[in-house]
Amino acid sequence: MACGIIGVTARKSQGSPSRIAEIVKKGLEKLEYRGYDSVGVAAIYDNRILVRKGKGKISEVNRRIKLDRVLGWTVIGHTRWATHGAPSDINAHPHTDCSGKIAVVHNGIIQNYVELKKELTAKGHRFQSETDTEVLAHLIEEYLKKGNEVFHAFKKALKRIKGSYAFGVIAVDEPDKIFFARKDSPLVIGIGRDMNFIASDIPAFLEYTRDVIIVYDEELGYITPDSVYLEDENGIPVNVKMRIRKIDWTPDMAKKEGYPHFMIKEIHEQPRALRDTLRGLDESVGEASKLILEARKVYFVAAGTSYHACLVGDYLLNILAGIPSFSIISSEYKKYRRSIGEGDVVIAVSQSGETIDTLMAIRVFKKNGAKIISVSNVVDSAIPRESNYTIYTRAGPEIGVAATKTFTTQILVLSWLSLSVAEKGGKLTENEARKMRDSLRKAPLLVSDILARYEGVTKKLGEELMNSRSAFYLGRGIGLPIAMEGALKLKEIAYIHAEAYPAGESKHGPIALVEPGFPVVFLIFEDEWKRHMLGNIEEMKARGAYAIGIIPEESEFIEERLDKAIVVPKLKPIVGTIVYSVPLQLIAYYAAVARGYDPDKPRNLAKTVTVE
Ligand code: M6R
Repeated sequence: MACGIIGVTARKSQGSPSRIAEIVKKGLEKLEYRGYDSVGVAAIYDNRILVRKGKGKISEVNRRIKLDRVLGWTVIGHTRWATHGAPSDINAHPHTDCSGKIAVVHNGIIQNYVELKKELTAKGHRFQSETDTEVLAHLIEEYLKKGNEVFHAFKKALKRIKGSYAFGVIAVDEPDKIFFARKDSPLVIGIGRDMNFIASDIPAFLEYTRDVIIVYDEELGYITPDSVYLEDENGIPVNVKMRIRKIDWTPDMAKKEGYPHFMIKEIHEQPRALRDTLRGLDESVGEASKLILEARKVYFVAAGTSYHACLVGDYLLNILAGIPSFSIISSEYKKYRRSIGEGDVVIAVSQSGETIDTLMAIRVFKKNGAKIISVSNVVDSAIPRESNYTIYTRAGPEIGVAATKTFTTQILVLSWLSLSVAEKGGKLTENEARKMRDSLRKAPLLVSDILARYEGVTKKLGEELMNSRSAFYLGRGIGLPIAMEGALKLKEIAYIHAEAYPAGESKHGPIALVEPGFPVVFLIFEDEWKRHMLGNIEEMKARGAYAIGIIPEESEFIEERLDKAIVVPKLKPIVGTIVYSVPLQLIAYYAAVARGYDPDKPRNLAKTVTVE
């Protein structure tokens, strides 16, 4: 899970001193998707630090204590997802030192905080909270007492800290500066006009600037309203001008634009996202396919939805290119720390590029000598940076916690890559590969068509499912990972227990749960498994299941056995994966809405999981 950080420092010419707190509060709202239980801000004004913070949603806390009215031109803000210490007003960030002259926000975990707290308490420091973060404020205070300037005190304090972090720090002694540091938790800098930013993610300041510097691991520095100072891991100053990138995301991309939720907006953005991702794919898969063809073994590694995309890529590499690849859930990477290495290729898939488990996995595999290819939606994020080669999806920012457009674009990239490998490896003729590529090129249009035809049907289905306690999603072959993704979507946003199984496996246990009315969703592709799937429908129907199917046209013999059918065009399975994903996303979305939940911010979940 992941806290959210934002910091803004502006020249006084930027208007009233409460304007910056408003910008910070808006930025925090853009980071809500990361998951949080409390929120707070701290500002420097009149030679003092003012802190307002509390447990609850930003809107509630703001109503109570007016976060957006805090005065000051240097302001930091934080959304907290509790790790050390329960969600509470006191444990909410920012945290201050004993003198109240330093305030700190943090995303990550300080592993040695118990020892540090003991040491600092013995020296007379008084702690207010139960958090690990507070030790940083007191450590800086300690080094300031020894006569250091704030930046040096901050650097010395960081040297004492073990663990992961993105820190934002303000100090009354340097009222125009926000100090920052990053290790294993994301942090970006935004370059505005007479106003600079730090944040956990770009959408937090996208309304004000598209000029961005991604802070790399173990870098640190500070921003002022018109400058950035950055040092690399060896303490060498970085030429920041060379690091500025103009990102091609627009502020509208991070707004709902009339949709009730980001998730439904992002579902509808898929035709555009797919079209953008298709651009330049031929070039970007070239190098990666060469690496795969030379590999001793090929592995995929990812978490959650991205893992399901891996399963599609893995299936296609096996089936089309005859390459026996394997998919690994990234948090389980340790099992492979001795077996994956020299000569192997590992394909890491992560929309955020920051998922800590995936990052840790590729670090170990790379150290062992494996080559890393990554697929990510965020340019220059940690996983791409540590990879030998990256292919980017161009889905635009995904704010809803549930992955939708990043999933279908990941599948597109992995399918294109598998085709290229199969063709270069002589397993597909040029003509066969061209035909499959042509069908993938139709994905944007096909998805538009599904959205236009099936939104109403899927809404009804979602509403029907709202009272179910459980559901099964069954598929075979390439349909299985799509079933897994459909079940994950229903689980994570509608809180309905859903499990996916290989349809053939369902009779080896799961079928025992089926009773009259039990919903089972069947994914039936135009492939060699179509007839077998009919058998599975019969088995489930015989036990009273409520059978819902996504099926290809001209499959009346299947349609008549289903209680509800979503009939899609007859498609090559390689593009069917993308198309079939869309009704499943819609069903989960409408089930969540019907049950009264906010699909953008599912409970207990965060968009980017930066804690192992
Ligand atoms: O950023 P990543 O793709 O590495 O994230 C991995 C998972 O946390 C993510 O796919 C998660 O399962 C989805 N948000 C669920 O919809």
